[in-house]
Amino acid sequence: MPIGDAPADAGSRRRRAGSPASPSERQIVPKVSSPQRSSSSEQLLLFGRNFLKHPRMLGSLIPSSRFLVNHVLAEVDWSRARVLLEYGPGVGTFTTEILRRMRPDAVLVALETNADFVRFLKGKVRDDRLHVIHGSAADADAVLDRLQLDRADYVISGIPYTTMPPGLRDRILRKTHSVLDANGAFLVYQFTRAVLPYLQQVFGSVHQDFEPLNVMPARLFYCRHHIDRAAAENGRRTNGSGRSKSLQPLAPDRTGTAKSPRLSG
Ligand SMILES: C[S@@+](CC[C@H](N)C(=O)[O-])C[C@H]1O[C@@H](n2cnc3c(N)ncnc32)[C@H](O)[C@@H]1O
Repeated sequence: MPIGDAPADAGSRRRRAGSPASPSERQIVPKVSSPQRSSSSEQLLLFGRNFLKHPRMLGSLIPSSRFLVNHVLAEVDWSRARVLLEYGPGVGTFTTEILRRMRPDAVLVALETNADFVRFLKGKVRDDRLHVIHGSAADADAVLDRLQLDRADYVISGIPYTTMPPGLRDRILRKTHSVLDANGAFLVYQFTRAVLPYLQQVFGSVHQDFEPLNVMPARLFYCRHHIDRAAAENGRRTNGSGRSKSLQPLAPDRTGTAKSPRLSG
């Protein structure tokens, strides 16, 4: 899948992610022209039509509910999120809420394989902080490089890992590990727990959560490089019990490059 369509202003964000915003930058009121917060009939129609064409790529007949969006985005520390990646924005259900919450000096890179959705987002969601890229999550590292952005503070992923080829799934998880900041989080929502062992092979810590108020109740996974001791002490579930002994989570090295993971593909 070719990577394409970086916005014309991509070069204007050539800075280290995490450089503090100047006071004047903080005053900027972001211009988000977006579809309505709940999905409009245009969005529902476009999504449903594309589900019929590409059921395995979409994995769902309708976009995520606001309950799911709010649940996942509650995991984000908006004060420190400077580079965010979204995998599979679809018609922008998460995208517009991320833009509404994120800092004026933050950047959101949305990677989408479906050309109809890319066209829709580019036409409907106008915000200088957003880069809609027609490409695969498997190209996350190349896209960040091209935009001259460092590692991501958050990766928010709605792509269906269970219906994609295992080699592609493994490549995406490996790439995600390599682009995620040492203190970053990979937030995944799915309709089943099938992806859990693959997340556990790659990330040091995987917390599980659940959102019942979605048309298909959703499984949430919050993945980090390291064990989150505070959360573990608070009794949240980590990946300690389910991981195969032969598999080790990848440790971020000093350059942020993933060491060779033990995955297929
Ligand atoms: C379940 S939909 C989620 C849409 C939206 N985020 C939501 O929550 O309503 C999955 C989306 O992932 C996209 N997708 C599937 N595989 C992808 C990949 N490898 N890289 C980027 N996007 C992908 C699909 O085209 C689709 O838009």
